[in-house]
Amino acid sequence: MQVAIDLAGVSFGYRPGQPVLERVDLRVGRGEFVAVAGPNGGGKTTLLRLVLGLERPTRGQARLFGEPAHAFSRRRTLGYLAQRAQLATDAPATVREVVASGRLAASGLLGPLRRRDRAIVSESIVRVGLERVADRPLRTLSGGQQQRAFIARALAGEPSLLVLDEPTTGVDAEGQEALAALLDRLHRELEVTVLYVSHEFGAVERYVERVVLVRGAIVFDGPPAALPDVWHDPSHPHA
Ligand SMILES: Nc1ncnc2c1ncn2[C@@H]1O[C@H](COP(=O)(O)OP(=O)(O)OP(=O)(O)O)[C@@H](O)[C@H]1O
Ligand SMILES: [Mg+2]
Repeated sequence: MQVAIDLAGVSFGYRPGQPVLERVDLRVGRGEFVAVAGPNGGGKTTLLRLVLGLERPTRGQARLFGEPAHAFSRRRTLGYLAQRAQLATDAPATVREVVASGRLAASGLLGPLRRRDRAIVSESIVRVGLERVADRPLRTLSGGQQQRAFIARALAGEPSLLVLDEPTTGVDAEGQEALAALLDRLHRELEVTVLYVSHEFGAVERYVERVVLVRGAIVFDGPPAALPDVWHDPSHPHA
């Protein structure tokens, strides 16, 4: 197994004496699809930021594809949908323009996209099923469609790692189901490693081989079938 993500003995806090995550060990192989869940303030976003090298561990080591995460040399191949990622709501950009911006950023191009880049942009739009609205302004799409556009933008960079932080906020159950199915397909077809933070992991449970629960530390890491019952019980929302 080629290791994509390797956190070893990682502890982290934003302020001295106030640990947010303690002694985290997390290894994710290339091509794995992993769901991350846990209560508000449990440290999920912080964990993703450590994985991406946007924060540096107070103790321990964070590595990406064998390199120190903060100094990862192929940073452009990291697809990150930050929590509540949004464009300014009145931005006039079309879906295709938004996706193309992902291609530009990833390739470091300054000028117009070349033919191959344009093909990758179109292919990314098709992969997320937005071809029929590709030339509409993003703001005229539903929340779920907008999230798909952001995923397509990440895909246009041909990512080695796709990290999504609660992309389904404000998306209905059907939309969440569709998004989970989409990520499942992408990870199988593109062999991209996917780390997916979701509160509603009922939707992803059937697709992922692995769930990681974060509450100040990793309190569970295993297949969804082995999750403690409390996490399946809707009357205990991630107690
Ligand atoms: N930039 C920051 N500066 C200081 N403290 C922070 C910062 N970001 C997060 N925290 C604190 O770190 C802890 C973990 O926050 P984090 O955002 O990682 O949780 P989360 O699991 O993603 O929560 P949510 O489900 O609400 O998104 C919280 O106590 C939070 O207040
Ligand atoms: Mg968060």
